Amino acid sequence: TQPYRIAVIPGDGIGKEVVPEGVRILEAAAEKFGFRLDLEHHTFGSCDYYAEHGTMLPANWKEILTPTDAIFFGAVGWPATVPDHVSLWGSLLQFRREFDQYVNLRPVRLMPGVPCPLAGREPGDIDFYVVRENTEGEYSSVGGTMYPGTEREIVIQETVMSRHGVDRILKFAFDLAQSRPKKHLTSATKSNGIAITMPYWDQRVEAMGERYPDVRRDKYHIDILTAHFVLNPDRFDVVVGSNLFGDILSDLGPACTGTIGIAPSANINPEGRFPSLFEPVHGSAPDIAGQGIANPVGQIWTAAMMLEHLGEVDAANAIVAAIETALREPASRTRDLKGTATTREAADAVLRAFAAA
Ligand code: NAD
Ligand code: IPM
Ligand code: MN
Repeated sequence: TQPYRIAVIPGDGIGKEVVPEGVRILEAAAEKFGFRLDLEHHTFGSCDYYAEHGTMLPANWKEILTPTDAIFFGAVGWPATVPDHVSLWGSLLQFRREFDQYVNLRPVRLMPGVPCPLAGREPGDIDFYVVRENTEGEYSSVGGTMYPGTEREIVIQETVMSRHGVDRILKFAFDLAQSRPKKHLTSATKSNGIAITMPYWDQRVEAMGERYPDVRRDKYHIDILTAHFVLNPDRFDVVVGSNLFGDILSDLGPACTGTIGIAPSANINPEGRFPSLFEPVHGSAPDIAGQGIANPVGQIWTAAMMLEHLGEVDAANAIVAAIETALREPASRTRDLKGTATTREAADAVLRAFAAA
């Protein structure tokens, strides 16, 4: 069989530290499960590249990445040298849009043995997906500044919700909910205050819901929804939200399971017309970069999500099982989980569990 063609883009900060650990598990999985990988390593999509070239990406980035089967991405951003909106709109947000990766799928799971910051919660109590709209909504380029530099200065950025864009993310979320035992979908809204786009969102949820009579659905305004994440995380199964709401919920959810350092994500173009992109939820963490202490589990779990997407389901499940085994051991945990392991040691523990299974 043909090798999977994977673009590897570490990006900045701890992205450069955790991506090699993700690559190690990918290579171990290929060996163990009998598939081949053709890894193409790229330095673009980083602030170092920007310093040298004045852009985040080469002009022909689409030609380079389009033929790949998937993009394995670390994190982008080094605000000390490049403003975040420049580095992010010049890379990750471009990929999401230009490759129409309209689903951002972010699992939230309390792993066995990991101390939960929420009192009395056990594995099984927190096990849901955040499904985030990934190409429109609040992340729009519609708007601008009027009367700049004057006292009348006005800055506007419009939220964009297209029927096509809203319906397709809702369909993905309902399909996912329908495939799960609980068959429950929660919609994040704010139709009390944001009185044009959010009532529209609610209306499309109702319309889509009629096509899924077996899926129980509810909705919460985003403010109280964040409270329920903390107080009643067992209430959730599939949570669907707009681009910004999904962004916020997908940091809060993992934080409720101990750390954002273990959380993976898949930026998916479900039709497969373009490559999908796999990255941890976290960023480049400048505050700990260069110390070798970043949690590699988010990147490693991301590798599992990518393999699942490529059809290597057994390999993906084996990686997640190895993560669970490793995390049970306090000595295998990094500092964000109150452990003492370095990035390398934490990854070694997962690799050992993977090899032993
Ligand atoms: P961040 O996720 O980088 O860090 C937030 C906090 O979590 C920090 O204290 C950090 O040390 C900690 N943390 C994050 N990942 C960790 C890990 N794997 N192990 C241990 N601790 C971890 O968010 P931020 O500080 O808001 O952003 C820093 C930079 O990253 C900015 O440039 C931002 O724009 C960018 N960013 C990029 C992405 C991405 O590429 N997908 C995501 C979020 C933020
Ligand atoms: C994420 C990140 C990005 C986002 C930033 C870095 C633009 O926070 O992937 O969650 O907001 O989508
Ligand atoms: Mn985010």
